[in-house]
Amino acid sequence: MDFRNAVAKKVEEVTGLDLETVTKLVEIPPQEDMGDFAFPCFALAKTMHKAPNMIASDLSSDERLSAPWLSKVEAKGPYLNFFVDRGAFAKEVLSEVLKEGTAYGASKEGDGKTVVVEYSSPNIAKPFHVGHAFTTILGHSLSRIYEKLGYKVVRMNHLGDYGTQFGKLITAYRLWGDEAALEKDPITELLRIYVKFHEEEKNDPSLTDSARENFKKLEDGCAEEVALWKKFRDVSLVVFNQLYDRMGVSFDNYNGESYYAKMADQVVSMLKEKNLLVESEGAQVVDLEEFGVPPCIILKSDGTTIYGTRDIAAILYRDENYHFDKNIYVVGIPQALHFKQVFSVLKKAGYECADKCEHVGFGLVKFKDMKFSTRDGNIVLLEELLDESVAKTYELIKANAEARNSDMSDEELRAIAEKVGLGAVVYTYVKAGRERDIIFSWDTMLDFEGDTAPYLIYTYARTKSILRKAAEQGIVPADSDSELLLNLKGDEEFACVKAIADLPEAIKKAAGSNEPFMVSRAVSGIARAYNRFYNNCSILSGDDESLKKARLALCKCVCDSIELGTYLLGISVVEQM
Ligand code: ARG
Repeated sequence: MDFRNAVAKKVEEVTGLDLETVTKLVEIPPQEDMGDFAFPCFALAKTMHKAPNMIASDLSSDERLSAPWLSKVEAKGPYLNFFVDRGAFAKEVLSEVLKEGTAYGASKEGDGKTVVVEYSSPNIAKPFHVGHAFTTILGHSLSRIYEKLGYKVVRMNHLGDYGTQFGKLITAYRLWGDEAALEKDPITELLRIYVKFHEEEKNDPSLTDSARENFKKLEDGCAEEVALWKKFRDVSLVVFNQLYDRMGVSFDNYNGESYYAKMADQVVSMLKEKNLLVESEGAQVVDLEEFGVPPCIILKSDGTTIYGTRDIAAILYRDENYHFDKNIYVVGIPQALHFKQVFSVLKKAGYECADKCEHVGFGLVKFKDMKFSTRDGNIVLLEELLDESVAKTYELIKANAEARNSDMSDEELRAIAEKVGLGAVVYTYVKAGRERDIIFSWDTMLDFEGDTAPYLIYTYARTKSILRKAAEQGIVPADSDSELLLNLKGDEEFACVKAIADLPEAIKKAAGSNEPFMVSRAVSGIARAYNRFYNNCSILSGDDESLKKARLALCKCVCDSIELGTYLLGISVVEQM
């Protein structure tokens, strides 16, 4: 039973409002003494010709509102407050988690629907920095969230593998390239020659011409230039894939801009046919005045296509190949206007799919108490951030293991540090609304008591350890049909059950707003409630065997819920710590 729905049905019965309206209005009150669900009566004032306070008070005594699973219904001001029966609530919620395990919270919402999620999309031959990590982590999490809700997800990596800079790289590589260095540390070598190109170009304009020629040859498909470009692309991908593997991130499609460049002609002829191309300062553009945005350039004055043209081609490709219901772009806020222009061009051209595209923007990444080598210009590499986080985590858990006289091997500690250290970074990206800027600080992200991945993982390991201990003592948790679950009525237990009950709704909201933080907030709520429960109720001591079994079942549900929630965020848990 879904308690929210059940409350809504009761309200529907006594007010005559339709269920959909009621369901939207049912709230979760901010304070415990206001009950578990509340219905604001303002919407009824007009039709009932009464003040909302009066309506609430009259309705509260309607006996159709009583049910075995409701302990009381009370009027407070204009609100009708519902108090659920704690035992019944616990049994209802926990039965489901005990049956479903980590499949809890799944839904049919997305059945038969496809979501294209574009994320990461780094530029070939350029370092993978902490900004790319933002899109990678958000997109990875959103993909898992949509999948959980039953959607078919297509993960796209729209690589930046095209543009005049590849003409420059070809020229630079022929002049100064070092093959061995390229094999060993590809991005550093490519960056080195790229920077050198720009320095030398200032005194030697022939370099500019050479780069332009090489780019032209690349566009025309000349074998040698294409081979070099492919080499740059391949070695860059090796580096990116190492990072993706480390983070458990994967893609279904790596078609980059070069792929869509080949389709740009079709975009141009389509727009011409529809009479949408106009000339502006030598370039061919689509006027977008009616959308309140500047014109979108399709062809530059020299006849070449640009970034936006390739994005238009990419949408048509995605529409044709995946028939998406939604096509989302996890790309930084600075590109908001670009996407608005691209979507508007397709809208103007009459494509229905234009309305199914959405830009999912995010903020900037900043650092508080951290120093990095930033050897590649002024940017922080994701790899460095991860390595440092893992190293610091290792020191912390090693000290802790020594203090506890733990018999964990160094190898085990390092494996744990890798997961927890990575998790700490990932969590920092998903713990708040994505449009807010992120501030990295070791003190905050590695705080085992704070709102952090180490805290979540530690709590998970703690539930595991209790479940192991119970198994050793031969205590079996109550199962999904057990009446023992009705005994979970204490304040701490109830808070824990409520937090678990909130998770499915949080997952839906996360997908609805493309905000993984809805999930991170729900999981951290479960962990906090559990730790309060753990500190106040000794789960395995005492002589009430039935209560022990019921509490162990709660423990198991917390464990599965945290595993599920962290999975959706892209964080791995560990069995012990
Ligand atoms: N490669 C671009 C960058 O690193 C991001 C690409 C965004 N995606 C797109 N379809 N335009 O800035």
